[in-house]
Order: sequence, then C-alpha cells, then structure tokens
Amino acid sequence: MAPKRGSKTAASKRIAELQAVLAYHASRYYQQDDPEIADADYDEFVKELRALEEAHPELVATDSPTAVVGAAPSMTFSPVRHAVAMMSLDNGFSAEEVASWWERADRLLSRDDAPKAGDRSLVCEPKIDGLSLALRYERGQLVQAATRGDGTVGEDVTANARTIVDIPSVLALPEREIPEVFEVRGEVYLPISAFEELNRRQLEAGLRLFANPRNSAAGSLRQKDPTVTAGRPLRFFAYQLGEVRGGAVGSDGLALPTQRAQLDLLTRAGFSVNGEIKVVDSLGEIAVFCAQLLERRHGLDYDIDGVVIKVNDLVTQRYLGATSHAPRWAIAYKFPPEERNTLLHEILVSIGRTGRATPYARMEPVVVAGSTVEFASLHNADQVGLKDVRPGDTVVLRKAGDVIPEVVAPVLSLRPKGSTPWKFPTNCPTCGATLVRLDGESDTYCVNIDCGAQQVQRIAYFASRSAMDIEGLGESRVELFVNLGLLHDVADVYELTSSSLTDLEGFGEISAGNLLAAIDLSRHRQMTRLLVGLSIRHVGPTVAQSLAKNFVDLDAVIAATDQDLAGIDGVGPAIAKSLQAFFGAKENLVVVERLRKAGVELTSDRFVEGESAGQTLVGRSIVVTGTLLGFNRLEAEEAITSRGGKSPGTVSAKTFAVVIGESPGAAKVQKAEALNIPILDEEGFVRLLESGELS
Ligand code: IVH
Repeated sequence: MAPKRGSKTAASKRIAELQAVLAYHASRYYQQDDPEIADADYDEFVKELRALEEAHPELVATDSPTAVVGAAPSMTFSPVRHAVAMMSLDNGFSAEEVASWWERADRLLSRDDAPKAGDRSLVCEPKIDGLSLALRYERGQLVQAATRGDGTVGEDVTANARTIVDIPSVLALPEREIPEVFEVRGEVYLPISAFEELNRRQLEAGLRLFANPRNSAAGSLRQKDPTVTAGRPLRFFAYQLGEVRGGAVGSDGLALPTQRAQLDLLTRAGFSVNGEIKVVDSLGEIAVFCAQLLERRHGLDYDIDGVVIKVNDLVTQRYLGATSHAPRWAIAYKFPPEERNTLLHEILVSIGRTGRATPYARMEPVVVAGSTVEFASLHNADQVGLKDVRPGDTVVLRKAGDVIPEVVAPVLSLRPKGSTPWKFPTNCPTCGATLVRLDGESDTYCVNIDCGAQQVQRIAYFASRSAMDIEGLGESRVELFVNLGLLHDVADVYELTSSSLTDLEGFGEISAGNLLAAIDLSRHRQMTRLLVGLSIRHVGPTVAQSLAKNFVDLDAVIAATDQDLAGIDGVGPAIAKSLQAFFGAKENLVVVERLRKAGVELTSDRFVEGESAGQTLVGRSIVVTGTLLGFNRLEAEEAITSRGGKSPGTVSAKTFAVVIGESPGAAKVQKAEALNIPILDEEGFVRLLESGELS
C-alpha cells in the first residue's frame, strides 16, 4: 500500500494501526512461536510503516517496530542481557535493492576518514530460517545460551541448548587461544527431514502439527523441559562472534582480519559452519550466488529464506557501523516468499474424467514463489475436514518452488464470527446427480456416466498428450463441442466432419482440416495410449504398458479373466476389478466397437513389431526428468520398461542413471549429483537404450 503523503492525520492514524498490528504479530512470532501471518506479509507491513515514517519523520515513535528487534522475552525463562546487542538485518527484495545497499556503503567508504581501500570483498551466507542464539563461553566452557529476545534482553535457554549436537560444551581450541569470554552467535534450526519425522509423530499422538521447521525449532528450543528438547534433533550453524574479551583470538594471537577468518576460527573451535558460504568480489558474483542458491534451496535439508551478504573486512565493518536496529555492513537478500496469507473466497468442486469430485479453493490472487496463484486443490472431503478451511477464512498459502500450491491452514484468529465448517455438496455441481462416497474410500464420485463435466474431461484427456495426442483438441474446444452436442464420448471424435466444423464460429477450412488431420493421425497410436485414453480407473501409463505387453490386442484385454490378469506385473486385484467393471459395461463396449469401425488401431504394438527391443536394461532403474525432443514422458518410460528396466519418478541410491531433458527438475539433478549417479543427455539416453552402456 502506498504511503498517504498528503494528510498528516491519515498518516498518523495508519502509523498507529501498523504499530499495533506489528506488535501483535511480533508477539505471536517471537513469544508464542505461533505466527499468524506469513513472513512476507509481515515484511509488507514493515515496508509500509517505514515508507510512512520516511514521509513523516516527526511521527516516528522511539519504540516503533521499525526500530525494534524481535520481541521482549516471555516469563518462562530467566532474562539475559546481551553484552553486545543482537541486531536484526535490513532486507533487500531484489538485486536492485542489494545494489543500492552496496552503493550507499561504497559512498561512505569513499569519505576521507574511511579505511583506505584494501579488502573490499563480501561474504555470501545462506540465511538460515531458524532462530538466533548467543552462546557464551567463559575460559572455554559453555556457561550460557540466550535467545535474541528484543535484541537487548533475551531468554536463558542454556539447558536446552546443551542438548544440541553442534554446540560444544568446551571449545576445541588450544589453551593459549581461548579468551576469557568468547561469545558465538548463530542459528538454531530443525533439519527438514527431522521436521517431517516430528510431524509424523505429532500426528500419531493426535497432537498439533507444526506449520514449518522454523516454528518447530522455536517451539523445541523454548521447551520448559530439556528432555523434550533433547528428543527434537535441533542443529546449529555458527556465523558470527559476539562479545570477545580477555585475550586476542586467532592462532597468531592477533585480532582476526575478516568475517571469513572468524568463520574459520569457529570451525576450529568445534562449531558447524555452513558449507555454502562464499567470499566474492563483485555485485555480479553476489547475483550469481543468490540465483544458484535459490535454484538449489529445496535440495538442502534446512530451510533458507535468503542470502546474508556481509562486508568481509572487519575494520571496514566497524567503520560502517550500524543504524538503531541493523548493521550497515550487511544486508539480507530475501528470496521470493513461498508462503503468503490470502483470503479464501469459496470452495468449489470439480468433476474429473473418472467422476471424482475434487474440492478446490478459489482465493484472492496472490504472488507466491514468483507466480500468481488463485486456485489450489483441497484434494478430498477428509482433507478439508482435517484442515477445517472455510470460505471467508484468511489462509496460509504455500508454494515451494515449482511444487503445486497448497492451502496449509486457516488463520484461526482472523476467522469471521459465525463461520461454520464447509460441507461437501451432496450433488454433482454439473449434472445434479447424487454424489457417492464408498465405505473405506477417501474420494467422492459423480457416478452419472452422462455427466457433462465427466464427458468433457474424459474426451479432453483422451485427446491429450498423455493419451492419443490429438493436436488442436484441448479442453476448451472439447467443452465447446460437448456443449454443441457434437461430442458425447471418445468415439464421437472420429465422427467429426469438415462440414460439422466449418459451420462453427472461429473455424475455417484450414483449422478444420488441421484438426481432422490430427484426429486421423491418432488412429494409429500405440495400444498403451488407447488404454490410457479410455479413462479406466487405476489404469495409468504403467498398467497400460503391462497390459499392452501381455495381450495381443484390446479384445484380449476385454476377454481377460481374473486368472489371466493375476499373472501380470503391476496388475493387482483392484485393477483387475476395475478393468472388468469397465469392459463389463455395455456402453463402453459400444464405444470400443465404434472406435474399431472408425479405423482406430486396437492391436498391441508389441505384437505388431514383435519383441524387437533388446533387453538392455534388465534390473536397471532410469529416471527421466525434463522434456526430451524425441520422446514424450510415456514414450521414454516405455522405451525403458520394454528393455527390461524400470522408470521410477524419484532418484535414489539404486538409480542407474538420470536422463535430463529441457527444464529438468532441480531436486532430481541435485540428488543425482549428490549420490554420484551418472547424468545423461538425450543422446546418451538413446545410446543407453541401444547398448545398455553408459558411454
Ligand atoms: S548475521 C547483526 N548471518 O537472520 C547481524 N544472520 O533477519 C547478525 N540469520 O537475526 C546476523 N542466517 O537470526 C546472520 N548467516 C547469517 C544468518 C543470519 C540467518 C538470521 C538471524 C538474524 C536474522 C535477521
């Protein structure tokens, strides 16, 4: 929101409002470990307040949240006064903001009394999303651990900190290097793997789930009972020195020259220092570091929310000094937020091609992880019930990288009065038929085979790249044709004629001709694609491939008995039942007959081409990620499985090779690199298919 420069009364009112809002949310975050709004929304309020204060400096209160760090300590732990204030960091949300921070610092450094230009390097450190902790060592022994609190007074959490494996109780330095007082600062965090395990246990015990690793780390460190903390595998990265007194640090007895030297000393003293940290010499290098870390952030086992950029030279740091709340020698470049609060307008239900009724949220559009999100699936009735999200709620929306957006939870304290739990509709929103949920199943279905929504979805899926790959027959065209009565089922696709199309608005001779040519091409697709395109429940690409491998044609699949199906790899009783139910329905057999009459190939390609593929990949697991030029996803999978290999969706230690196409999944590539698994391009893949060799 733009600051209201014009009216001083309006500005003063808004400033008071923002101060109250920020004080409330700071208390939820720092004292109750239960934030109500996403970090990015908090940052927006701070930005707005700062802009108003800049426009009206006479209205700035001394205790304004823009000048205060964190929140005052709670009553649970004894207060600890920090010898050196624990400051916050100024944020930069773009490369431009980082550049103007550096320009400002550079201007100060060109003054006459500034230290002469020597080391102007900068240190880039991941900004760990945990909570800061100050560890005080006296004569080498850990005597106190304190949280940041309001920056001046924190909380004594020594007993809890002693349970953290990365925190040595005695400094690992030689006697002569140990100062009287040595204060180490860093971040306590919970690894993501430990967070997931903790939430699994909370769920089993029927306890409240933690929203994210940061909250669970804060909740775990601020436990009254240290044995509870000990059961939570917290970790600690050291990144800074606080008070150092009585003896110069460093093996040569001299004061340390740089931030990098401090980090190296911390490593020698027995602390864990983050391995991603890098010293750079230019803004360009900072940009590269930030971009690369942003790309890899989800491959790390801890959450980071940005990069902290620090002036390396400590004399220069001292010269630059600090404002009331943050040093001038550092800035936090914040990554685009992955969590935002937004208003949930309504919960709708969509009907899929199998009739499955999926609830989804329509929200006030919000930019999260770099893209605008308006809709998110709520999966099924149980999920909505478990999260208890309701229309009118403010919800936390999360989108981690390229992962599908998820409604994490409602913000209960912002729930409008009189709101009631959302109820799953009893009737299909498209055809009005009663929705059915079978015992023991989590999904609800519209079982009306003539339901218009199902027709559209089934035909659109049949025509999609995953199935018969008919170019030009996307969902909106299918919807138009269904509404016009031109299509009812998948066999109708082959009955479209030039005259039926050219009458339509937006269709000329050429576009009609193109569509009919694309439809014609699809008559000769592999049987796997046809099976996938029929939308038989539980029959996806893998099952369809198994069937195509084992049956000579579609008629043989239709005639297959329980016994015939039982011996087939990947075809369990549920799939067998589903196949028999599908082909047991007369209307589906009529569709198959019409497809046959329309000239659609019903013969298995295996038997047309013979067992031509050599078994070059027996027992090997090959993961494909990204777009290949010569294979779509299904074809790549088929190329692997027809040679005896497996094509799972995830990389593990058992993976033989990872094939990468255009825009590969970053997490898969990183995991492959971490596990030293060979990475192939498309050419390497083709050679592997032919020879089984990694050439
Ligand atoms: S240096 C005076 N380095 O970010 C500067 N802070 O938003 C002290 N943080 O309070 C902080 N990683 O809790 C520093 N590598 C890092 C950090 C880091 C995470 C946290 C820390 C700080 C907050 C400021």
